[in-house]
Amino acid sequence: MLATQHTATAGHTLLERLYEARQRSDEIFRLVRGDSLYERPIPERHRIIFYLGHLEAFDWNLLHDRVVDLKSFQPEFDRLFAFGIDPVGGGLPDDRPSDWPLLSAVKQYASRVRAAVDQGLANGILDSDFRTSDGFSAATLMNVAIEHRLMHAETLAYMLHQVPLDRKVWQADRLQTDAAPLSQRMIEVSTGAIQLGLSRESEVFGWDNEFGTHTVSVPAFAIDQYKVTNRQFLDFITAGGYEARTLWTDDDWEWKTANAIVHPVFWKREGEAWLYRTMFDELPLPMEWPVYVSHAEAAAYARWAGKSLPTEAEWQRAAYGAPGGEERAYASYLSPDHRYPWGNAAPSSRFGNFDFGGWSPTPVNAFPAGQSSFGVEDLLGNGWEWTSTAFAPFPGFEPFPFYRGYSADFFDGKHFVMKGGSARTAACMLRSTFRNWFQPHYQYSYTGFRCVRR
Ligand code: AVJ
Repeated sequence: MLATQHTATAGHTLLERLYEARQRSDEIFRLVRGDSLYERPIPERHRIIFYLGHLEAFDWNLLHDRVVDLKSFQPEFDRLFAFGIDPVGGGLPDDRPSDWPLLSAVKQYASRVRAAVDQGLANGILDSDFRTSDGFSAATLMNVAIEHRLMHAETLAYMLHQVPLDRKVWQADRLQTDAAPLSQRMIEVSTGAIQLGLSRESEVFGWDNEFGTHTVSVPAFAIDQYKVTNRQFLDFITAGGYEARTLWTDDDWEWKTANAIVHPVFWKREGEAWLYRTMFDELPLPMEWPVYVSHAEAAAYARWAGKSLPTEAEWQRAAYGAPGGEERAYASYLSPDHRYPWGNAAPSSRFGNFDFGGWSPTPVNAFPAGQSSFGVEDLLGNGWEWTSTAFAPFPGFEPFPFYRGYSADFFDGKHFVMKGGSARTAACMLRSTFRNWFQPHYQYSYTGFRCVRR
């Protein structure tokens, strides 16, 4: 047999990745029963039907006149489905199901747009040295389309998590609920410097907010070996943490009180017992899983424990630094998207709970192989981690001209940086410079935290 010469070109790889991302987003819509597509599972977000149109409209709006040169055939839908929403401080959407087009019309638009994009991309442009008029390669735009869709595969998972179980199509999930009680220690991180940001000369794809390499010196601190667990958070609740005024900022207290929040949104009280709401089941609270909470609840816990949330730079140093003060030694040929807390090896299920391996958390100590040079565990996957750093531009920030609002709309001091990743974070977004963010009262994402002491 002839050795098959695998002639995968760069363009071929990008197409494959787009198709894989589409499988991820298609599969998530199949989890919702058809009669629930006009529901709004999260009050701050659009109804599910929006996202069915949005994922295709986004690719279309990005690519149709920049890369594939095709005319719009339904411009009202291009606009209707262009952008999601993230209202800060009240002002929830109040549109009704009947304000949205029929499912058949949305589906028809989505499949027409998808077919047109595919046809346009089949002409070899991805393997040419084509540049947009503002100097971007087709590969950059494709990465924007791919990662945008994969981010929605995750944010849709958060959203469908809130859909009642009887309105979803049940799937088997691997649940590790039998972990032995663990004890958590704090790990000393010596004073040292850490580099943040992706170099503008890098060949690696990054979003606008990642660019601008700069070095931050980080005074010594101690950090939790693992994320804070449900068990630890239960201690906070039992100690009256939700009622202790001094543990909360004014804004956070007001939010908590107005919404009558007395426990994490993923928990449910049943008589004297606590249940945990996974994507497809309700279980007795798994004590060694990470707790997922809003920034407000995380910060209150940290105050109660006499600790703090880490800054973005502290988190980065715990993950990618080394006791000598320098960064962990990585093979010099590796670019920042191939550097991980555990070293150079590509992400795999040995190192953490990410890349769609399952729907639920694992115990926080399930991946010792994923630990950083300092011995800090569970840094990538198993839940994002809140930092105390407000989402803000790195030095020299430039918005992508083809998506000006992606980050810049959130540089308002009202969003906090999250690092790490969850079970539903695609491997490509585990690069060290990736930054996620939400507002402090957003309870629905797969986000927990660990504490530091300075
Ligand atoms: C980067 C996850 C905060 O969901 O609000 C998707 C990603 N932006 N479409 C969000 C995003 C536009 C964004 N986060």
